[in-house]
Amino acid sequence: MRYKKIYDLLEQKNQTHLLKYYEDLNENQRESLLEQIESIDFDLLNLLERDADEIKKGVITPLTDAVSVKEIEKNKERFQKIGIQAIQEGKVGALLLAGGMGTRLGSDKPKGMYNIGLTKDVYIFEMLVRNLLDVVEETGAWIPLYIMTSEKNDTDTRQFFRDMNYFGYNPEYIDFFVQKMAPAANYNGKIFLEEKDRVATSPNGNGGWFISFVESGLEEKAKQSGVEYLNVFAVDNVCQRIADPCFVGATIDGDYCCAAKVVAKRRPEEKVGVLCLEDGKPSIVEYYEMSEDMARERDEDGELFYKYGVILNYLFRIDALEKNLSNNLAVHVVEKKIEHINEQGEKVKPQKENGFKFETLVLDMIHMMDNCLAYEVVREKEFAPIKNKEGVDSVESARELLKLNGVEL
Ligand code: UTP
Repeated sequence: MRYKKIYDLLEQKNQTHLLKYYEDLNENQRESLLEQIESIDFDLLNLLERDADEIKKGVITPLTDAVSVKEIEKNKERFQKIGIQAIQEGKVGALLLAGGMGTRLGSDKPKGMYNIGLTKDVYIFEMLVRNLLDVVEETGAWIPLYIMTSEKNDTDTRQFFRDMNYFGYNPEYIDFFVQKMAPAANYNGKIFLEEKDRVATSPNGNGGWFISFVESGLEEKAKQSGVEYLNVFAVDNVCQRIADPCFVGATIDGDYCCAAKVVAKRRPEEKVGVLCLEDGKPSIVEYYEMSEDMARERDEDGELFYKYGVILNYLFRIDALEKNLSNNLAVHVVEKKIEHINEQGEKVKPQKENGFKFETLVLDMIHMMDNCLAYEVVREKEFAPIKNKEGVDSVESARELLKLNGVEL
């Protein structure tokens, strides 16, 4: 009965291949596969037919709320004092987005477990914890650290932190939570099978963090312990300052509900998302969404109109996020390499992109905020993303920056 219902649904959705190996499976595997199919959000597949117009941006204008490195320097003492006080009062939590698959880096393990050391072990997670420990030392207060994982890397991540003794962090202040998954499909919209009894799924994008944080019960726990702000940051930027008192202070001082660390673009055409206004509200426009003319436009001082690129380090006031919880984030269809089993039931590890994943992005949350402060940081000090194995934004380029900043590797 259940099988028949699911088969009919799959027939309607043109996805009956998901049951191709059903007969080969044992009872438990069958049960598990049916459960997975029942939980698929088939509506996502409709997005593959979406018209480009449906995701058009509104009217883009330059940002108005920004503090440059120079201005920050001038006000440093005040910002720092406000930030330190907020941290000491337990108002700031740090939230690590570590649910991604890091496919470009090409490691099977969670990205944070990657060892970037040369003469000794230095793990990405370790660098991030060390950066946060600097603030613990400076303020004398433990900062709650929330770590988002996915079904794919949760066990490994938790185990690694345990094995490494939390890199010296107080485990009482570390909590893990797991983000949701979305199906992955080929170019014809057919959902992949990862195993004969497993639908291919991938984490549903870093925009899913707040819902998952709420559903895990950790948001309630955070609020009850007095946390008002969350510093959300990516796993792969080993230089970034986390729960940076000056950043927190500047945000509170200006009464912003949201802030983003940004770097000045190196060139107009640099491939970074730019913080600007869209229909008068803060928004991040991706480099491919911006015309060449817009990207090159300059003011009378010769500064680019759209000059600040985001580095995936945001500060959100929790109450502002809650107000927007019911607003749906846009789902992005992203081309990726997806492991699967082929028609012959053999495992395939593709060398190049072979299909689509569905992701919501944290950058889209910015547009839901009433305001957002762009807080400029020095790229050479705070931006060393590790996306690729070699070349741009790679392990090599991050190592160079770490060395420049006096980190022994
Ligand atoms: P990326 O956009 O670089 O994605 O993530 P990724 O999955 O790590 O890497 P590729 O594209 O497969 O090579 C930016 C940040 O968002 C997190 C990542 O862990 C990283 O900190 N992220 C991404 C999630 O937490 N969940 C997701 O579903 C996707």
